[in-house]
Amino acid sequence: MTDLKEYTEGKTTFLTADVTHYTAGKKQPTTDMPVFYNPRMRINRDLSVAILASYMKQARVATMCEPLAGSGIRTLRYLNETLGDFKAILCDANPIAVDTARRNIERNGFDGRAKVIRGDAKVLLLTESREKRFDFVDIDPFGTPVPYLNAAIQSLNPRGALLGATATDMPALCGVYPNVALRKYGGISMRAPFVHELAVRLLMGRIYDLAAMNDCAIMPLAALSTDHYIRIWVKVRADRTKANKQRNSIGFIRVCRKCYGFDSTRIGEPTCPQFGHQAVSCDGRPTIAGPLWTGQLFNDKILEGAKGFMSENPEIYHKKAGELLELMDAERELIAYPYIDLHALCDMYNFPSPRREEVIQTLRAHGYRAERTHFRPTAIRTDASSSNVVGIIRTLVGVDHTGQTEG
Ligand SMILES: C[S@@+](CC[C@H](N)C(=O)[O-])C[C@H]1O[C@@H](n2cnc3c(N)ncnc32)[C@H](O)[C@@H]1O
Ligand SMILES: [Zn+2]
Repeated sequence: MTDLKEYTEGKTTFLTADVTHYTAGKKQPTTDMPVFYNPRMRINRDLSVAILASYMKQARVATMCEPLAGSGIRTLRYLNETLGDFKAILCDANPIAVDTARRNIERNGFDGRAKVIRGDAKVLLLTESREKRFDFVDIDPFGTPVPYLNAAIQSLNPRGALLGATATDMPALCGVYPNVALRKYGGISMRAPFVHELAVRLLMGRIYDLAAMNDCAIMPLAALSTDHYIRIWVKVRADRTKANKQRNSIGFIRVCRKCYGFDSTRIGEPTCPQFGHQAVSCDGRPTIAGPLWTGQLFNDKILEGAKGFMSENPEIYHKKAGELLELMDAERELIAYPYIDLHALCDMYNFPSPRREEVIQTLRAHGYRAERTHFRPTAIRTDASSSNVVGIIRTLVGVDHTGQTEG
């Protein structure tokens, strides 16, 4: 018999396998638990609820599908915590997860709006959407979402629908296994100081490819990188003309790991521009990531709505979720500039690290735009080049151009 326990997340109470019991007190859930539930993904779910609530202010959601549902907590929270009246289809291959999700739906009084099916996610996406396509699909797998994305995109309402996807295969996305990234995401990953941004852009690039293959364009709404996973929210709509134009947002990002020089190039550019190192006479060889999505990652209206939703319920949602939305909003307008991790930059140049706020204020005083980013607490986005940032840090920490501390 499965040892179930009652948990509460947001406004929703539900049953799932007792995490403490099945992890021998370590609280790090494993895929062999009778029903998978990771309490640390709560922030992911908090943000997902807020973004769906915000999306529903702009677009109608009549049906949704979560094909890898586990205990059902994610969809249960959408049903319980947003104002929508949509119907939901949940699926899982694991019969214990299916039974548990059914119990949770019933306990929360959503039998009229939700049904749980046992089966394979890809098959379900294609068969259950035959009569009526979904307005929202949420892919929350073990590891990579890629195997499910084509079926998910084909199951979406062509007039416009929301797709959410989580990826936890960070070694592939963050440059430990670049060839695996190439195989799964269609682009090479690399170890770079802004590696988590590259991870998000590789996933977004794969979604663009598959959407375009199905004559659809994409509109990224939000991207999240925290703990050991990434998550994206994107609107997908049938529009082959726009999909053709969006090819301009596919490109490569190059970085020199000796001087922190970086640039991005578009896939269609006839010649590869000369790489500009940031330090005069740097002999580092730039490494290259991509092809990947180089365009916008956030939508102002969606973030605004999600922030509003969070602020109406401050005691219910994790404080960090609201803070992440604020940071996403702050970095949105500077998204064309990959973030600069001040600790990585200072390590490269052998400087002590100044405070992030101090660097931002000084850059602004010099006429540059500079913002925080949700990707890392030690990073900034700015339209100043990395050599300008180095110059500013040099004066802030009192190090002369030879690297000696000025006294
Ligand atoms: C990461 S868990 C889902 C967690 C859940 N979405 C949540 O927020 O708590 C992934 C789930 O996918 C299920 N699964 C794995 N492969 C599947 C497949 N091919 N079809 C359907 N379900 C599958 C697993 O049984 C597991 O419950
Ligand atoms: Zn260099």
